[in-house]
Amino acid sequence: MQQVKAVIARAKGAPVELVTINVPDPGPGEAVVKIQSCGVCHTDLHYREGGINDDFPFLLGHEAAGVVEAVGAGVTDVAPGDFVVLNWRAVCGQCRACKRGDLHYCFATHNAKQKMTLKDGTELSPALGIGAFAEKTLVAAGQCTKVDPSARAAAVGLLGCGVMAGIGAAINTGGVARGKSVAVIGCGGVGVAAVAGSALAGASPIIAVDIDARKLEAARKLGATHLVDSSKTDPVAEIKRIAASVYDGADGADVVIEAVGRPETWKQAFYARDLAGVLVLVGVPTPDMKVPDLPLIDVFGRGGALKSSWYGDCLPSRDFPMLVDLYRQGRLDLDAFVTEEIGIEDVEAAFAKMHGHAEPVLRSVVIL
Ligand SMILES: NC(=O)c1ccc[n+]([C@@H]2O[C@H](COP(=O)([O-])OP(=O)(O)OC[C@H]3O[C@@H](n4cnc5c(N)ncnc54)[C@H](O)[C@@H]3O)[C@@H](O)[C@H]2O)c1
Ligand SMILES: [Zn+2]
Ligand SMILES: [Zn+2]
Repeated sequence: MQQVKAVIARAKGAPVELVTINVPDPGPGEAVVKIQSCGVCHTDLHYREGGINDDFPFLLGHEAAGVVEAVGAGVTDVAPGDFVVLNWRAVCGQCRACKRGDLHYCFATHNAKQKMTLKDGTELSPALGIGAFAEKTLVAAGQCTKVDPSARAAAVGLLGCGVMAGIGAAINTGGVARGKSVAVIGCGGVGVAAVAGSALAGASPIIAVDIDARKLEAARKLGATHLVDSSKTDPVAEIKRIAASVYDGADGADVVIEAVGRPETWKQAFYARDLAGVLVLVGVPTPDMKVPDLPLIDVFGRGGALKSSWYGDCLPSRDFPMLVDLYRQGRLDLDAFVTEEIGIEDVEAAFAKMHGHAEPVLRSVVIL
C-alpha cells in the first residue's frame, strides 16, 4: 500500500478537498497507474452535486493518462512503464451484451476489486471506477489502454471520457457520415468533440448551438460550419433554416446531438431533426428531470431514432489508438480541447468556470 495526494468530494455540494489516500498494491487483474494528466469533466461536478448517486466520499477525476507503475498477478496486456489512457469500459467478455458481440454495451465492465480508502480506512467511490485526480490510482488492468507514448498526456488523456464521448456520439451512435447534416446542442468539451467527430466523418453542414457565444468559437475551430447562439435565436428554426439552405427540402438536421443533458435542450434536438432523423442524447440528465408535454404522435410521426450514447459507444482498445494516430497525423486537434493546465489544488476553481461566469473553458486539465 502507498499514500498519495488526491481530490475527493466528501459530501453533496461541499467543495472538493485535497487529502491523502491509501492506494493498495495491485491484486490479481489490477494495475496501479502513476497519473500524468486528468481533465475536469462535467460528470465530476455531477458526482460532487449528488446527481449520480449518494456513495460519498467520491474520489473524483476520470479523464486521465499516465504510466503503469505496477501490475498484479495474471496481468499480461499491460506492463510497468506502459503509457496508457484510462477507460471506464473494460469489457467483461462474459455478459449477455458481450456474448452477442455488442462489446460496447458490456453490462459488467471491470473495475479494481480492492478499494482505495481515506487514511482512516473509509472506502472511496472512484468516479466512473477510475478516480484520477490523484498522484496514483488503482484500476482494473483492462481499464488501461496502451497508446503511442510520444503523444501529449494532457491531450490524449481527454479521450478517456468527454472527447471520446463526443466523437463517438457522432460517429458510432449517430452514424454521422459524408452527406449528412449535423447539429450539436451544447458546445462544452463533449459537444465540441461531437463537432470534431462530425468533421472527421465528412459531414456538412455542422451546426453548433450554445447559449454562450464564446463556446461557439471553439466549435468553429474544430469544424463547425454554422454557429447558432440560442440565447438570442430559436435554435430549432435556425437549424431547420440552415439544413434547408444546403439540402433542398430538409426539415432539420439528419443527426442532432444533445450535449447539455437538460429536458429543454433534448426537446429542441427532438424537433430540430429532419423526418427520420437521429437524436443522440450524450448529455447526462439528473434523476429528477422529465420531458413534459411531448405528444406521442410526434415521436411516432417523425420517425427515425431516439438514442442515448454512453461513452460514445466506444471500444477503447479499438478507438483510443486510432484517434491518437489521427491526432499525431494532425487530423484531430486534441490540443485544442486543453484550454488550461492546472494544479491538483485547482479542481474546485475549474468547476466554477463550468458554470460559465469566467472565461470559456473546454477542458481544464490537471497536470500531476
Ligand atoms: N454520455 C457520456 O458518456 C458522457 C461522457 C462525458 C460527459 N457527459 C455529459 O455531457 C454533458 C456535457 O459535458 P461537458 O463536459 O461538455 O460540459 P460543459 O459544462 O463543458 O459544457 C456544457 C455546454 O452546454 C452549454 N449549455 C448550457 N445550457 C445550454 C442551453 N440551454 N442551450 C445550449 N447550450 C447550453 C454550456 O454553455 C456549455 O458550453 C454533461 O451532462 C456531462 O455529464 C456524458
Ligand atoms: Zn460484458
Ligand atoms: Zn467524463
